[in-house]
Amino acid sequence: MASMINILFILVSTSTVIAISAPPATSLTSEVEEAEALQKWKASLENKNPSLSSSWVGDNRACNWVGIVCENSTTIRHLNLTGYGLKGTLQGFIFSSFPNLLTFDLRNNSLYGTIPSSIANLSSLIYLDLSSNQLFGIIPPEISFLSGLQFLYLGKNYLNGSIPEEIVMLNKSLSVLELSENNLNGPIPVSIGNLNNLTVLHLFINKFYGFIPSSIGNLTKLTQLYLMHNQLYGSIPPEFGNLKFLTHVGLVGNQFNGSIDLVMKNITYLKYLALSDNLFSGYLPQNICINSRLELFSAHSNYFVGFIPLSLRNCTSLIRVRLERNRLTGNISEELGIYPNLDYIDLSYNNFYGEISQKWGQCKNLQSLKLSNNRISGGISPHLEGSVELRLLDLSSNNLVGEIPKELGTMVSLFNLNLGDNKLSGSIPPEIGILSDLTHLNIAVNNLTGSIPKQLDGCTKLMSLNLSKNRFPMNLPPEIGSLQYLQVLDLSYNLLTGEMPSQLGELKNLEVLNLSHNEFSGSIPSTFVGMLSLTAIDMSSNQLEGPLPDSKVFDEAPIEAFINNKGLCGMVIGLKACPSTIRSGKKDNNVVILVTVLVLCMLFLALVVSGIAYVHCIRKTSRNNLNGQPEAQHEDLFSIWSYDGKMTYRSIVEATDNFHSRNCVGEGGNASVYKARLQTGQVVAVKRVNTQEEGRVADFKAFESEIRALLEVRHRNIVKLYGFCSYPPNSFLVYRFVEGGSLEKILSNDREAHMFEWSKRVNLIKGVASALSYMHHDCLPPVVHRDISSKNILVDLEYEGYISDFGTARLLEPNSSNWTSFAGTVGYTAPEFAYTLEVNEKCDVYSFGVVSLEVIMGKHPGDLVSTLFSLSSLTTPSTSHDIPLKDVLDQRLIPPRKQDAEDLVSIAKLAFSCLQINPQSRPTMKQVSQELSVQRVPSSNVFSRITLG
Ligand SMILES: *[C@@H]1O[C@H](CO)[C@@H](O)[C@H](O)[C@H]1NC(C)=O
Ligand SMILES: *[C@@H]1O[C@H](CO)[C@@H](O)[C@H](O)[C@H]1NC(C)=O
Ligand SMILES: *[C@@H]1O[C@H](CO)[C@@H](O)[C@H](O)[C@H]1NC(C)=O
Ligand SMILES: *[C@@H]1O[C@H](CO)[C@@H](O)[C@H](O)[C@H]1NC(C)=O
Ligand SMILES: *[C@@H]1O[C@H](CO)[C@@H](O)[C@H](O)[C@H]1NC(C)=O
Repeated sequence: MASMINILFILVSTSTVIAISAPPATSLTSEVEEAEALQKWKASLENKNPSLSSSWVGDNRACNWVGIVCENSTTIRHLNLTGYGLKGTLQGFIFSSFPNLLTFDLRNNSLYGTIPSSIANLSSLIYLDLSSNQLFGIIPPEISFLSGLQFLYLGKNYLNGSIPEEIVMLNKSLSVLELSENNLNGPIPVSIGNLNNLTVLHLFINKFYGFIPSSIGNLTKLTQLYLMHNQLYGSIPPEFGNLKFLTHVGLVGNQFNGSIDLVMKNITYLKYLALSDNLFSGYLPQNICINSRLELFSAHSNYFVGFIPLSLRNCTSLIRVRLERNRLTGNISEELGIYPNLDYIDLSYNNFYGEISQKWGQCKNLQSLKLSNNRISGGISPHLEGSVELRLLDLSSNNLVGEIPKELGTMVSLFNLNLGDNKLSGSIPPEIGILSDLTHLNIAVNNLTGSIPKQLDGCTKLMSLNLSKNRFPMNLPPEIGSLQYLQVLDLSYNLLTGEMPSQLGELKNLEVLNLSHNEFSGSIPSTFVGMLSLTAIDMSSNQLEGPLPDSKVFDEAPIEAFINNKGLCGMVIGLKACPSTIRSGKKDNNVVILVTVLVLCMLFLALVVSGIAYVHCIRKTSRNNLNGQPEAQHEDLFSIWSYDGKMTYRSIVEATDNFHSRNCVGEGGNASVYKARLQTGQVVAVKRVNTQEEGRVADFKAFESEIRALLEVRHRNIVKLYGFCSYPPNSFLVYRFVEGGSLEKILSNDREAHMFEWSKRVNLIKGVASALSYMHHDCLPPVVHRDISSKNILVDLEYEGYISDFGTARLLEPNSSNWTSFAGTVGYTAPEFAYTLEVNEKCDVYSFGVVSLEVIMGKHPGDLVSTLFSLSSLTTPSTSHDIPLKDVLDQRLIPPRKQDAEDLVSIAKLAFSCLQINPQSRPTMKQVSQELSVQRVPSSNVFSRITLG
């Protein structure tokens, strides 16, 4: 076929030539024809490059035009217009006028439309580059008629469809095949093994799926194989091992599994090997650096086990190494050598042990060293001395002991230092203050004592300072107040005494301030109103007294931020009002005192009475009061409160007018929610459970302890449970009242949904993830919600989300005698509910996936879940794979931009991983939450191109 077309062209061109004149004029004629064709195409372009406009004029001198190179000043051989800003299509290009063209290079323009099949008329073509344009449609199979084509670059377009099988016709010539960053799909064709001359195969960032065909082993000249970020899976075929000359291998971001160490045994010229984010198991490939060429090696987030390959020990060529999140082990001081070129190494989240060796100090170019979450022991000093280039040092969550060496002060480039969660002792060396580039300092959760050095003010760029959970005694140096960029200051759980320094008020950029669980005394300095960016404060469990500073942040903070102090007062609900506010009405001071005394007496009485009632009711056996309105002395068959003694069965019944329907703010299957204003002025939500019988109290003990545990739960995004009371038919839970209503309600109301912008939605999802992670991973025993749905997530007026009913879902199902018979909410429950009684955290992960999609889509994802879902386990994806993400997003909002777009993509990705059918394949909430908290830099990926696949 190819030769037929060639012949056709030769016939056509020769016949025209013969018809017109003698040989000398031949080239002139074709030159005229070529010039005309070029000018015609130029006329069809929408956006003409000025140099093109001025140059491509006249009739027959095309050889002098920009972008054109001729041979013997007559025949156009090369056309190269890369980066000319050309906008338009290729439809107007008369390819048949250029049978002698060798190079056709239009890389990096704004050409759109399809690739015309007439491109096959460039019959001499060797080099074709249309990459970095906006071309769409399929790769025309006719391209395979270009029988001399050696270089084919079509990357960074919007091409779809699959690789045309016809491409095998280029088996003799094709050397470079670059189709990356398109929307191509389908399997990698088996016939690709016939492209004997192939050296470079780039298919990354597409939607190819299925196995790597074993025929790939026939591409023995292959040096670069990039398959990253597709949906390929299965094990790497043994034939892959024939590709001895591979220098660049990228398999990142697929679902490859199995072991590859033997497969790669003979591949020893590697410079770049990226295996990350797959399901690989077994040992790391052993011979990857026997020729000392390897520069980049990444294998993170797999299931690799065993030791670091021996060949890496003397691999001095290494520049970047990422092995984090595997199951690797070995003595870290013996497994690794000295790497003069190493810039970045991450070995976190493995099982490495041993001590930090001097060798790191000899890696003179090392900028990032991450060893967190291993079992590294010993001291830090002074082995890292000399690492003057080091910018990031993360040794957190290991077993390091001893003091923080003052030599750290010599690592003047450090900007992020994390030594948290170790067993370090002694004090913080003042030399840390020399680190003037430091932006993040975390030494939390150690055994540090000694005063906090005032020299920390030398770290003038500090943005986050976490010294929590140590044993720092004495005063907080006022110099901290000069750290003007500080955004997060956490000094909680220490032994800090004295007054809070008023200078902290100068921290204009501070967003999070946690001084809780110390021994601070006196009043909170009024200068704190100067912390204009503050969004979260916690000053609980100190010895503070006096009025809160007069600012919105303090007024609106939850009572939990101030509890367990000596005598704070202010506007915060639950806190007593300050005497001065009463005085403003020019009342006599004596009256104030009298009132206060009276109130205190009454409180005391109330405490005593309710205390008696409490003891009484705990002892009381089951009792059936048919009047429904229990008498005071029979109060609380069973009640537990975390709140002060003032909240009683009776006060709740009264505050809701005996559960009058006008106070009802919501109704669900087995429960109704009431808004209740207590006599203290506090507004709470009361969830009344319609329990008909008392049989449930059988497992009372276990249940009681669970409720008690839940009362201790303190997380920003979990609705605070104040207490529980059971007195059938009135059993109820008392929660903090959240103003905005349920997430479901907000999303179903167009007006409210409109106000619920992307950034707020992203924030809400992050909050929910963090709350779930907290309950699953930071509580002992872990608490599973079992019924996460948009109904159970409440939203306040700032659109912060709060999970309600944590750990109490069972209560709301009266007929369940145990946890496992509970069925959850249809549309949110994990598929394993259908066949197993084993309910664990992964069910919540699934429901979280559904809710996340619901938030970004504005409605329950419904069928989308099941279609996308089944596809992850089948070989043939359905068409829903191709739905652009932007099309499923809530259309009531304007399309997201920059940061929001980036966050939404990551949320969508995570949501889909949460929806995996196999519970084991779902991430944990900890992973989800961590992933979401990563600050994403808006990338150059075109958001509108991202699809659900
Ligand atoms: C260019 O000139 C050389 C020497 O005269 C000749 O061999 C070659 O075929 C010419 N090329 C073309 C494309 O005419
Ligand atoms: C086309 O021109 C660009 C810029 O001048 C150059 O980088 C590129 O290598 C050229 N293409 C070919 C095929 O020579
Ligand atoms: C194979 O590709 C190389 C470039 O990598 C090229 O020089 C050679 O001519 C090609 N072979 C054929 C038969 O085209
Ligand atoms: C690979 O090459 C071998 C030997 O040349 C041949 O027998 C086999 O059919 C080829 N496989 C593929 C899939 O091209
Ligand atoms: C590696 O090469 C040796 C010798 O050429 C050969 O015997 C062995 O089968 C090869 N191994 C793999 C996995 O390709």
